Amino acid sequence: MPNGTPPRTIRIGLAGLGNVGAGVFKNVAQNRDLILQRTGADLQITRVAVRNLAKKREIEISPEILTTDWRELVADESVQVVVELIGGTDEAFDLVSASLRAKKIVVTGNKALLAEKGQELFALAEQCGVPIYFEAAVAGGIPIIQVLQEGLVANHIRSIHGIINGTCNYVLTRMSQAGLSYADALQEAQEKGYAEADPTLDVSGWDAAHKAIILASLSYGFWIKTEDVHVEGIDQVSIEDIRFAERLGYGVKLLSVIRADADGRVEVRTQPTLLPQSHVLANVNGAFNAIVVNGDIVGETLFYGRGAGQDPTSSSVISDLCEAAATLIYGARHSGFVPHGLYGRSKPINETISRYFVRLTVYDQPGVLGQITTALGARGIGISSVIQPEDLESVSDTASLVLMIDDAKLGDMKAAMAEIAELACVSRPAVWLRVETMSS
Ligand code: HSE
Repeated sequence: MPNGTPPRTIRIGLAGLGNVGAGVFKNVAQNRDLILQRTGADLQITRVAVRNLAKKREIEISPEILTTDWRELVADESVQVVVELIGGTDEAFDLVSASLRAKKIVVTGNKALLAEKGQELFALAEQCGVPIYFEAAVAGGIPIIQVLQEGLVANHIRSIHGIINGTCNYVLTRMSQAGLSYADALQEAQEKGYAEADPTLDVSGWDAAHKAIILASLSYGFWIKTEDVHVEGIDQVSIEDIRFAERLGYGVKLLSVIRADADGRVEVRTQPTLLPQSHVLANVNGAFNAIVVNGDIVGETLFYGRGAGQDPTSSSVISDLCEAAATLIYGARHSGFVPHGLYGRSKPINETISRYFVRLTVYDQPGVLGQITTALGARGIGISSVIQPEDLESVSDTASLVLMIDDAKLGDMKAAMAEIAELACVSRPAVWLRVETMSS
C-alpha cells in the first residue's frame, strides 16, 4: 500500500449503466487488486441507478444495489463519490448539483453538461468544497485532462489541435479507405458503440466542440461560451472532396483548433479540415483520437489513443475514481477547474485566419477563373494554386475547379464566397474547407 497506509474502502454510487457505465462496473471489478495496491483504495460500487430494472445486461450485478432513482444515491450517506453517466444536460445537471450539495465528489464523462454549464457547476463545487473530475469527458481513454491540469501546468498553451470525435474520425476514415458512403460508415460507427445516443451530436461537430470548450477553458482559465465557438460537422463532406484533397496531398479530418493570438484572444473551432498527409494527425484513423498540445516551455507534445468506446472511456472514469479516492484520503488539490484572469476574451470568429480549400463547379467557358479571382482579390485574398482536374468531372458543360487559398480572414472569405455564389458561371454551391499546415 502507498506509504504503508491501511486500505480505505471508497463507496461509489454509479448513475447510468449504459455502454460506459457497464464498462466501469466490469473494469473496477477486473482490476480491483491492482488499483488497491497502487492507490490504497478499495473501490466499491455500492449503489447503481438505472432507467430500467428489467433490462438484460452484459454484466452480472446484484439486484439489491439497483434503483431507478438517482436521488437514492445522493441521499445515501455512505456514498462518497457519485459517478454521473446518465448523459443529457437537464437531469444530469440536477444530479451533479445535488451530489455536490450533499458533499459528494462527482465524476462525470458528460462533455455537453460541462461545456454548457461548467462555469456554474465548478462555482458550486468551489462553494461546496468538493471537486468534479471529468477525465472521461474528453478523448475517451486519453488522459488529456490530467495533462492540462498537471503535466503541462507550467506552460502557457500556445495551441491545441485535436481529433476528438471517434465517430467522425471513423466515418471519414472508412469513406477514405474503403470508399463507404457516409451513411454506411456512420451505421458501422454506431454498431461499434462509438456514437452518442443521438449521433447528430457527433456528425454536427458539437460533440467535438463540447470537448474543445473544455480543453480551451482549462487551458486559458475562463469558461468559453458556446456562442463563441465555430462549429461545422462532417455531414457535408463528400467523397469527391476527400479524393480531391488526397490528390493534393491532404487528408480530411474533423479537427478542433484552439489557440491564443498575440493579444491573448482565444479562438475555438471545430471543422472538417485538410491536414498535410505527412503530418501525424492526418494518419490518425478509425475511432482513434489524437491531440497536439503546444506549450510555451515544452513545445509540441502529442497524445494518441482510443477516443470512444466502453473500455477506453471507462479507463478514464476509473482514473477519476482513483483521484477521488486520493482526495478522500489525502485532501483535494483543486475543484477541477481553476479560473484565472490572464486571458479572458474570445476571438471573434470572423477574424480567425487560415488557409482554405475551395471546390467550385463551374460552367466550362472562358473568363470563369478571372471572375473568381477578382472576387477573391478584391478582399486581398491570395490564391496559392489552381487545379482544374480534367478526369474527375465527366459532365460535359461543367468542370470542377479547385483553389488553394493563402491565409485569409474568415470574414473576408465569407464575403468573397457570397459574391462567387452569385456568379452566373458557378453551377453548384461551393465547398470550402479550412486547411491547417500545422506550422504553429
Ligand atoms: N461519441 C463520442 C465520440 C464518444 O465518437 O468520440 C466519446 O466522447
